[in-house]
Amino acid sequence: MNKRAVVFGVTGQDGSYLSELLLEQGYEVVGVRRRASTDNTDRLDRVKDNDSFTLVEGDITDASSVSGIVSQHLNEGDGECYNLAAQSHVGTSFEQPSATFSINAGGVLNILESIRTINPSVRFYQASTSEMFGDSVNEYGYQSEDTEFAPRSPYAVAKMAGHNLVHTYRESYGLHASCGILFNHESERRGENFVTRKITDYVARLDAQIKRYNLTSDDIDEEDAENLCWLPKTYVGNSEKTTWPKLRLGNLKASRDWGHAADYVRAMWLMLQQEHPDDYVVATGETHSVEQFVSVAFELIGISDWQKYVYIDPRFFRPAEVEFLKGSYSKAKRHFGWSPEIEFEELVERMLKSDMKKYEKEARSPVVAYPQ
Ligand code: NAP
Ligand code: GDD
Repeated sequence: MNKRAVVFGVTGQDGSYLSELLLEQGYEVVGVRRRASTDNTDRLDRVKDNDSFTLVEGDITDASSVSGIVSQHLNEGDGECYNLAAQSHVGTSFEQPSATFSINAGGVLNILESIRTINPSVRFYQASTSEMFGDSVNEYGYQSEDTEFAPRSPYAVAKMAGHNLVHTYRESYGLHASCGILFNHESERRGENFVTRKITDYVARLDAQIKRYNLTSDDIDEEDAENLCWLPKTYVGNSEKTTWPKLRLGNLKASRDWGHAADYVRAMWLMLQQEHPDDYVVATGETHSVEQFVSVAFELIGISDWQKYVYIDPRFFRPAEVEFLKGSYSKAKRHFGWSPEIEFEELVERMLKSDMKKYEKEARSPVVAYPQ
């Protein structure tokens, strides 16, 4: 019989990559998505029609929904359960702290309780996060499993509660429950309101418009154009300059350790193949500022004066910021040979190219919608 895995948060970035990996490994995968008013399974296009993949509805904040899923799909044997479900946006957690806490902390409790009471031999993965470190660094100036946690957002506090619950259930009931302390990981499937995807989406759209109207960067004005749509004020050949909507960003100085989600889901799976449950940092060991990400993305379309296109908007600053993240993945490497394969520049390029594909059509037609 094939091994079975339940994936909570299957419609998300990581859920889709993990489902693909598990199917490749011969698992039967049950993906759990919460009810949505319209279809939100685009990221699952590669797995939806696979006979070994089943999509079911459920919400981790609802204990009976979770226990129903666990008793139906993980009631016997040593199946695996991955909790990737979360309100995963740090900025949003300041606006919706209570919903964030109920999903990111209460949801974990519901799953752990279901496993404990229904089938304690199920192996469990919890999506913990580098946000839990806040501004802590170790004596070498980065973060590892031993670095102190000092959460700085409702998101991180809720994730810390989930993390501690996993420890409690591991120690109290002997569950095989592991936490991946994952640093930022992005991809072509990253949500559009995370900074990397927001940048590559803008740069791809800018490139499409520049090509559409056959402009050079010199044809474009410095003026801010918040209320203008993506239509040039003047067309090529006219001596007047063109004004574009700018890329509105917050803190450009923050540094993140950015990897690719496809690499990181491999680490999640490997954690559950270990004899003993544990916590592992998953990171690249490199850090780059948001500003560097912006600069690399613009360089890829041949623009070096990116400042002209960026507007610093106070709306995107957070009440408290995590300024610097850089992880050491040496424990994951030592225990199960994991290391990242996709480097920073390749990550930016892959995301940008994928967004460029999306705008290829727009480059050929006069679309005028103002981007959100
Ligand atoms: P994501 O794209 O935002 O996906 C989150 C998933 O959780 C979505 O499928 C979402 O469903 C689902 N979800 C939210 N609330 C739910 C609920 N109440 N019940 C059931 N499902 C619910 O996040 P991601 O980037 O894939 O990240 C996966 C996990 O890793 C998250 O827990 C995140 O906090 C954590 N993490 C991410 C990173 C990173 O850099 N990506 C780093 C460290 C940790 P909808 O589609 O309906 O919204
Ligand atoms: N989202 C966003 N939008 N962030 C911006 C912007 C903007 O316009 N401008 C600057 N930033 C800065 C944020 O202040 C932050 O310092 C950095 O860019 C990264 O922001 P996000 O991409 O939103 O990611 P995050 O680091 O806050 O959180 C992500 O990584 C965590 C792991 O460290 C999420 O994936 C979390 O779910 C994850 O736990």
